[in-house]
Amino acid sequence: MPAYAVIGGQWGDEGKGKVIDYLAGSTSAVVRFAGGPNAGHTVVNDKGKFQLHLVPSGLFWPDACAIIGNGVVIDADVLLGELTELDSRGIDTSRFYVSERAHLIMPYHILLDQLEEEAKGSAAIGTTGRGVGPAYTDKISRLGIRVGDLLDLEGSLASRLEQTLEFKNQIITKIYGKEPLEFDTVFQLCTDWAEQLAPYVRPTEQIVQDMLDQGKNILLEGAQGTLLDIDHGSYPYVTSSSPSIGGASTGLGLSPQSITGVLGVFKAYSTRVGGGPMPSEMHGQMAEDLREKAQEFGVTTGRARRVGWFDAVAGRYSREVNGFTGLVLTRLDILDGFESVKVCVGYKVDGHAQDRFPSNTNILAQCEPVFEEWPGWDEPTASATSAKQLPANALAYVRRIEELVGCKVQIISTGPSRTETILVEPVIV
Ligand code: IMP
Repeated sequence: MPAYAVIGGQWGDEGKGKVIDYLAGSTSAVVRFAGGPNAGHTVVNDKGKFQLHLVPSGLFWPDACAIIGNGVVIDADVLLGELTELDSRGIDTSRFYVSERAHLIMPYHILLDQLEEEAKGSAAIGTTGRGVGPAYTDKISRLGIRVGDLLDLEGSLASRLEQTLEFKNQIITKIYGKEPLEFDTVFQLCTDWAEQLAPYVRPTEQIVQDMLDQGKNILLEGAQGTLLDIDHGSYPYVTSSSPSIGGASTGLGLSPQSITGVLGVFKAYSTRVGGGPMPSEMHGQMAEDLREKAQEFGVTTGRARRVGWFDAVAGRYSREVNGFTGLVLTRLDILDGFESVKVCVGYKVDGHAQDRFPSNTNILAQCEPVFEEWPGWDEPTASATSAKQLPANALAYVRRIEELVGCKVQIISTGPSRTETILVEPVIV
């Protein structure tokens, strides 16, 4: 009864969507456990190019279900829009289910996300503005509205919405001086969502458990990355959920004992969107060139991503937090043609060596990278499908990353398409 998790090892955008689409053919379900429409997973396969924010990347295979677990926060408009688009492009969405325990992102969450960010000024987190943080805040404050409430409109939804909206309107009007939201408008929106979402709502923890009991493989789809984790990331410059392995258990109602493989996905370099320290960040023309070459612009917000060299200190920390059983290295092809490539192997603070990823964000911000420089490669890795096709210097770079992070690379991605993949060793057995 194996479950395999695919976890972002860095600051998100590592290419998890592609990896999941590649592996989903050997599984019965792809199950998302954390985050919300702040994620943007790009999948390129024989059906075309897809950019998914909420629907898990499993529906492109004929036998895999796509399930959203209780740990995800859902913007129903985004979800319904994605399902409609998938349907219109010939993808069967009847194998999609959403947990009745998942929380909804309400219009006031999106409004408050934007107002809070504006109010923070230069201390803004740089959120995606999708209402994710305020929705998780309400979940923990026990003010949240869940997908299951939509199935009981006049009962639990009406009373919960009334209570919460009154409270939110106090904040919206008294703190931010904005117009209150009308109960009838929000209730009508929920009524529309209820009608359209009802066919998909299920007790997903039971579906997942039944699959595992029947000996089926399932894939746990991470969103964002470990360094954005609410507990383990560079707080407060983090998202409001647990994108690391612990979130898979609580976000699905799944025992950690069911998880036999934990795959850590890393880009061959680093990127970060929004504020917060990034010790191996590149600046100047080189950063511009890399960003352009790799088209490092956010799928959700279109923002330019910050770019940097591979940070092995952060990588090792991420391996420890998650207990990675294997690594996936994506976008190796982007480094093709560089005269040399660098890896951050340590930090220095005030001239003193710092070889662990610090929990204090002020200290992280002071960390200067200690780089190791490796010769680049002229021959392309782009579109390679076997490790034998890789230039010796590219292979040496991969081996060095394995050594520094402390875990074997099982998959190398050499392009956006499903076929541009090197399976170094089997992942799903
Ligand atoms: P939020 O998740 O929208 O609250 O944003 C909090 C931080 O996480 C910001 O720095 C975002 O840029 C970052 N973030 C959230 N989702 C993603 C993602 O999918 N990829 C990369 N960064 C993300």
